[in-house]
Amino acid sequence: MNILEKKVISFDDIILVPQYSRITSRSEIDTSTTINYKNNKIELKIPIISSPMSTVTEAHMCNAIRSLGGLGIIHRYNSIDFQAKLLSFVNDDKVKSAAIGVSGDFKERLSALVEKGLKIVCIDVAHGDHVLVREAIEYIRNEYEELFIIAGNVATADGYKRLSEWGANAVRTSVGSGSICTTRIQTGHGIPTLNAVIQCYEAKKSILDDGGIPAYIIADGGIKNSGDIVKSIAAGADFVMLGSMLSGTKETPGKIILNNEGKKIKRYNGMASKVAQKNWKGSYSSIEGVSSYVPYKGTISKVVNEIMSNVRSGMSYSGVTSIKELREESIAVIQTSSSHLEGNPHIFNRR
Ligand code: IMP
Repeated sequence: MNILEKKVISFDDIILVPQYSRITSRSEIDTSTTINYKNNKIELKIPIISSPMSTVTEAHMCNAIRSLGGLGIIHRYNSIDFQAKLLSFVNDDKVKSAAIGVSGDFKERLSALVEKGLKIVCIDVAHGDHVLVREAIEYIRNEYEELFIIAGNVATADGYKRLSEWGANAVRTSVGSGSICTTRIQTGHGIPTLNAVIQCYEAKKSILDDGGIPAYIIADGGIKNSGDIVKSIAAGADFVMLGSMLSGTKETPGKIILNNEGKKIKRYNGMASKVAQKNWKGSYSSIEGVSSYVPYKGTISKVVNEIMSNVRSGMSYSGVTSIKELREESIAVIQTSSSHLEGNPHIFNRR
């Protein structure tokens, strides 16, 4: 084993420094990003992508998050026919997205989705810096040149560079950070999301300096509040992918259940959890996730509007009016654990 003398940092290890602000109204703040891709332009008014998970994104979520300015990717843990049917219910033709794997029926699945108007394909595997992902990207590039390809997940700058070179248009970053993830415990591997984003953003800048076209960066996993979204974007992410923060909303698949205390809850399953694997294929192997119940949160518009209001407020603290400015002008410092503790409500812990 080679031990690198480096420390990895996670969201709570940094804090953004408030700076002079000229912003008098949050309406001055623009959170949009335009994806320019071949002859296509896709505008995302908010930098949020809902994760391709069976308890997060099907057609309802896609339509609802799109109407709020984001993007949803239909999960792949279903039959080809069912996934294709879900895709046909997505209203905005420009952003029909679905996820596929890299083995088994993936070519057949892809072809069925393309027939239903697929525009964005997400190669959805846990370890994206992998020869099978390379082969899948090459296959898609040859067969379906026009598709926008999201691939991942990667944890390193080199991984990001490789996926960019192979032809991915956007890369999901971080391994083992998800709220329902046990990968680090089971395998001893992973890198926190913030750290992965920082590394990938360095690589992105060097690709730009060399005149190349780098992939967009999607911070994925472990984003637990709007502050983490602001930090992800400040660190270099173009978009964040959310699972738990969107789970439990009305538009997620699954029923509302009443728990023993009469409170409304919904399921939120890690895709490598025993429950999710059994639901999908009737059996399970190599479990790297857990399944859980989360409180019912109401409509996605209520949840996302609240998140975005906080993100805009965060941008105002940094004195910036756009995503680009946030990335270029924000300043972060490493914080101690007592500084982190002070940042949480502490009236109840006083002695
Ligand atoms: P969250 O937003 O922290 O809940 O993380 C969601 C992300 O966790 C997803 O977008 C995936 O990248 C990842 N993920 C989903 N299911 C699993 C699992 O079962 N094990 C490990 N990671 C998972």
